[in-house]
Amino acid sequence: MTLRARKERFGLTGFCCVLTTCVALGAWGCSSDAERPQGTPSPAGMAGAPNLPAVTHPDPELATLGSRETTYERVCARHHADAFSTALCDAGGHPPIPDLASLIALIGLGKERAFALSGNSTSLVSKSVSALNPRLLVFPRVGDDLAPPATLVAMGFVRGEQFVEVVGHDAVSGDLNFYLVRFEQRCSYDAAGCSLADLLTEQIEHDWTTYSVYDQEDLETTPFDCKSCHQPGGYGTKLMLRMQELTSPWLHWFPQRFVQQTDSDRLLSTEFMAVHQHDTQYGGVPIAVIANALDDGSGAQLEALVRAEGFADQPNPFDAQIAKEAQSGSSPTWQARFDAHLRGEAIAVPYPGIDVTDSAKRDAATRSYGDVVQGIAPRESLLDVRDVFSADATLKLSFLPQPGADGKTVLLQMCGRCHDGRGNPALPKNLFNVRKLDALSRAQKDRAIARMQASDDTRMPPWRVGSLTPDALQAAMAELAK
Ligand code: HEC
Ligand code: HEC
Repeated sequence: MTLRARKERFGLTGFCCVLTTCVALGAWGCSSDAERPQGTPSPAGMAGAPNLPAVTHPDPELATLGSRETTYERVCARHHADAFSTALCDAGGHPPIPDLASLIALIGLGKERAFALSGNSTSLVSKSVSALNPRLLVFPRVGDDLAPPATLVAMGFVRGEQFVEVVGHDAVSGDLNFYLVRFEQRCSYDAAGCSLADLLTEQIEHDWTTYSVYDQEDLETTPFDCKSCHQPGGYGTKLMLRMQELTSPWLHWFPQRFVQQTDSDRLLSTEFMAVHQHDTQYGGVPIAVIANALDDGSGAQLEALVRAEGFADQPNPFDAQIAKEAQSGSSPTWQARFDAHLRGEAIAVPYPGIDVTDSAKRDAATRSYGDVVQGIAPRESLLDVRDVFSADATLKLSFLPQPGADGKTVLLQMCGRCHDGRGNPALPKNLFNVRKLDALSRAQKDRAIARMQASDDTRMPPWRVGSLTPDALQAAMAELAK
């Protein structure tokens, strides 16, 4: 049960995925640091990807930032001093990243590492995350003494999104650097784009053709803005690691099997295995490692890292008593946190219960996934396994405004994170401040009304945040018409 014991056990099991991937993808080369001798040039084709066609359906939110080589050169020219930047930029040219396991190895987390799966996230990808399609975090292992790791680099991944989130500690500035690695698959060039099966089965973890890379400065101008959550103090303050549910019982994390099985393991690991039992790996971690984990893969390990790095003080935390209170129906502590979010003061709080899913949707998605990966049903029939949230979770995770909310509350809840004046004052989006509605010009208010009504990619709020019901839209428009 001690962190040290976990460390020894994981060292024996954690590396197999990287090796198998390298063998299977010999033709693509292998970027695991064990396999690629120093100074070996990258295989042709992976580098600038000159022979690849254009992506047919690029992410519109990243369109202004360019792609592939342009992004690589821009990020590397900034000479960040963290382990990811070093691996990416200082190895003599665009290193190949043919799959997820290779990316994990490239950033130095292929062997000695910890991991945790989350069945409920309040991050950039919250709308994709449940036990059926969990978010995987991989990060350095921290001992019982909570000494910070020699190198801090961590990554987050969820299926359905063609990107990996990375953070590294900058040895020069002493601050954190955040990155988005956006990868392409073969299906990225199909006229129809990638199918649900391309994005939600194990396929998304393999056969990457090339990638683009963006850092937090690039992303601040887009809805991906890492700083909107990892820099809660606002412009010019230090960035931080996030984990609201910092203390036991780590309700939404799994496999998390200690001496006694935890409730979250009982529920979430079971739901996960029902979907992924026929996969080889999830998030680069072998399914066998997840299924047989003892002590490995838990919120406890992320807690140790977040504490060791000095981020024990989390805004809008998910306090330990919430789980206890919620057993009797409702949790006043959770409600107080949620109210702070509705006032636009903080990001949403994790769900007060363990499971965010609706049982009918969950059963249908589980069956569909199993049938498709076993070849019983055609790939085209795959249901969206992300679309499983219960009505209660949809509201409590803030994907929709509260029924009957007034216009001001709708704007604070659904726009506040990116438009509360905390960010770089040089960016126009930070001048549209929903905490100071009275100070907005008529033109700013009209632009906001137009953006909420837009039917294209410019619609606000951005889709990864949530959407407005017709009533909420009316209420927000009436407020902005004043
Ligand atoms: C909406 C808020 C939000 C945004 C935006 C966001 N994050 Fe996070 N991030 C979180 C939260 C909350 C966690 C903790 C785990 C969870 O809830 O999934 C987290 C965890 C992480 C972790 C694991 C280490 C840690 O801090 O616990 C990484 C790596 C990470 N985020 C990278 C990024 C990157 C890169 C971006 C920008 C592309 C980004 N995040 C944008 C909220 C956010
Ligand atoms: C996840 C972050 C995020 C959220 C939440 C969000 N926005 Fe935005 N918004 C942006 C970004 C990034 C831009 C700048 C890029 C652009 O114009 O698309 C922007 C631009 C705007 C602009 C143009 C500002 C100007 O004057 O140039 C308006 C108006 C706007 N948003 C309104 C809203 C409203 C209203 C909501 C809530 C209903 C909302 N946004 C929610 C990220 C967000």
